Amino acid sequence: MKANLSQMGVDPNYWYPILRENELAKGKSLPAVFWKKQILIFRDQSGEVHALENSCAHRKVALHTGEIRDCKVVCPYHGWEFETDGKLAKIPYWTSDKKLPNVRLQSYPVRCRNGLVWIFPGDAELADTVPVPDTSSLENKEWFSFCLDNDFYNNYSIGIINGMDYYHFHLHRKFQPWSDIKLLNLQASENSVLGEYEIISTQGRAARLFKSILGEGGNEKVVESLRVHYLYPHHLAEVGEKIKVWVYFLPVNEKHVKAFITMYIKSSGVNRFFRKPFQTLFSPLILKKIQVQDAWIGLQEQEAWELYPNEPRCETNPISIAVQKLLVQKWTNHLEKES
Ligand code: FES
Ligand SMILES: [Fe+2]
Repeated sequence: MKANLSQMGVDPNYWYPILRENELAKGKSLPAVFWKKQILIFRDQSGEVHALENSCAHRKVALHTGEIRDCKVVCPYHGWEFETDGKLAKIPYWTSDKKLPNVRLQSYPVRCRNGLVWIFPGDAELADTVPVPDTSSLENKEWFSFCLDNDFYNNYSIGIINGMDYYHFHLHRKFQPWSDIKLLNLQASENSVLGEYEIISTQGRAARLFKSILGEGGNEKVVESLRVHYLYPHHLAEVGEKIKVWVYFLPVNEKHVKAFITMYIKSSGVNRFFRKPFQTLFSPLILKKIQVQDAWIGLQEQEAWELYPNEPRCETNPISIAVQKLLVQKWTNHLEKES
């Protein structure tokens, strides 16, 4: 398949984050979208979370404006009720001598982990064979974390390549604390691409903020290692031993991806006491601005693919080439399995 990144599809046989768990109170439902599929996420009165198609079996209207009554979803239109597994449970005006229509809503496997609700939108029988990303080793006092979730209006593949190709630090030169970067190592397999860069930190404002957040003083240039992992379909970046950033992708459609981003910083020395103020400064002054630039350039690249779908690109970073190959392979394999 010839790659057109603006059109790249996604293999649904993986776990995808759908929302932050704390957005969903007991008895509440929310709408979500995975790759053009409308999904209803709700928490029943016992606290369990479920995912169903967000479209009533009667006249297909969306169900998230209805209600959750105990463990049932009630459609706002004629009040049909559905079980948590999607089975039709009741039609309020139905007489008991008649059998209910044999209809049900599609349901999806759900897990709650790392503060997120995850769904498995593909073949439900495969759900237990695929792991949900696990960051429980970072959920302790040694680390503190904050979220930087964002919507990007470009194909998810463009965002992934952006996150693996650190030579684009030119775009962020005002905010990023690195003056130089070199790719040292690359390993690709059928499910992942791992890259190791060497970065040289500078002495600017961003560098000082980064260093203070890590509890490191001094203005000297430091050589750090930056490891980027594309563990299909999600991404992890690690700077030295003290920063980890997990980016979980929810592809909404060809031109929209939600990124659930959690940054973990090892808490040591002085930064243990100042993490709140650092976080309040660091996030808006540096990280948010970097994200705005990535959203802007992602849109530019999406448009460039739409304008010039067949023009060759002069790709030079072997990581970008390896990630693109993996994305195409996964999508092609999925299409072949489906046909
Ligand atoms: S459309 Fe849902 S009950 Fe009629
Ligand atoms: Fe970036």
